[in-house]
Amino acid sequence: MTRLKRPWRDNSGHLSPLKLAVFAALFVPGLWTALGYALGLLGGRPLNEAIHQVGLWGYRFLLISLAITPARRVLQWPRLLLVRRMIGVAAFAYIAIHLTLYITDQMFDLWKVGSEIVLRFYLAIGFVALLGLALLAATSTDAMVRRLGGFRWSRLHETVYAIGILATLHYFMQSKLEVYEPTVMAGLCAWMMGHRLIARSYGEGRRISVWATAALSLLVALATAGGEAVYFRLGLGIDPTLILAADLSLYAGIRPAWVVLIVGAGVTVIAALRGTARRQSRFGAARSDAYRPS
Ligand code: HEM
Repeated sequence: MTRLKRPWRDNSGHLSPLKLAVFAALFVPGLWTALGYALGLLGGRPLNEAIHQVGLWGYRFLLISLAITPARRVLQWPRLLLVRRMIGVAAFAYIAIHLTLYITDQMFDLWKVGSEIVLRFYLAIGFVALLGLALLAATSTDAMVRRLGGFRWSRLHETVYAIGILATLHYFMQSKLEVYEPTVMAGLCAWMMGHRLIARSYGEGRRISVWATAALSLLVALATAGGEAVYFRLGLGIDPTLILAADLSLYAGIRPAWVVLIVGAGVTVIAALRGTARRQSRFGAARSDAYRPS
């Protein structure tokens, strides 16, 4: 009989403080929402508010799981991979609860829930994304990796990027006018996908140049500004130049494109610092080799 591996242990069975901390943190938003509900702190429509909060955290966890691969490369911290699967499974669990709360809100009328999913495009998209996450969660065990083989398993799990796009669309469409956070998230999602494409063209194990990271950050920030302008034009008929002008002045606060640019610039600086530290440690090792008495 195969024994279940405890989520806070690493592959060699030792307690991993990183895994333990992340495992505990994943429960916090859910418990916070449950507590708010129990204490009557979720406003006039508590169930609807709970649907929102749980959906939002499920989406955030999904994006954090997507961020692990680029973060591991930029920080040169391979152990980060230990928590990717756990965060992905948590994203699925939150979204499954999100759907369950929605069904509860519809008084368990499954016929109505089914027809709403078919008739409302944003729900249909969300449902397809949830099915995709369910498939990934079901195949996330070590046994499934062995069964499918590394190559087929990786190919299957690359669909998480498509799921990320569907989830972002679902978030955008239900947000209607208030699209600040969805726009930021869409920009960050695009950055991570761009980073993945660049990494693939560099090949496994090679470091992405700081210039490529900087160029990606700038391009994605511009695309975020353009995408937001197009969204407001198509959805509300607002002149796109007004949105772009708001992006250029800080009068309207820090717009989503700036947030994406600031995050991208931060990652670029970290990549540059890590590159310098690596070169210095290589140089130091070479010097101490040169002075070692033979
Ligand atoms: C991967 C799949 C999904 C993700 C990532 C996701 C995420 C989200 C997010 C982030 C929100 C907005 C929260 C906020 O504005 O604070 C939301 C709202 C919502 N979602 Fe989902 N969701 C998913 C699937 C589903 C499914 C399958 C259903 C039901 C069939 C659903 C029903 C809803 C509803 C009813 C709302 C609130 C809409 C409103 O109040 O107008 N979602 N979801």
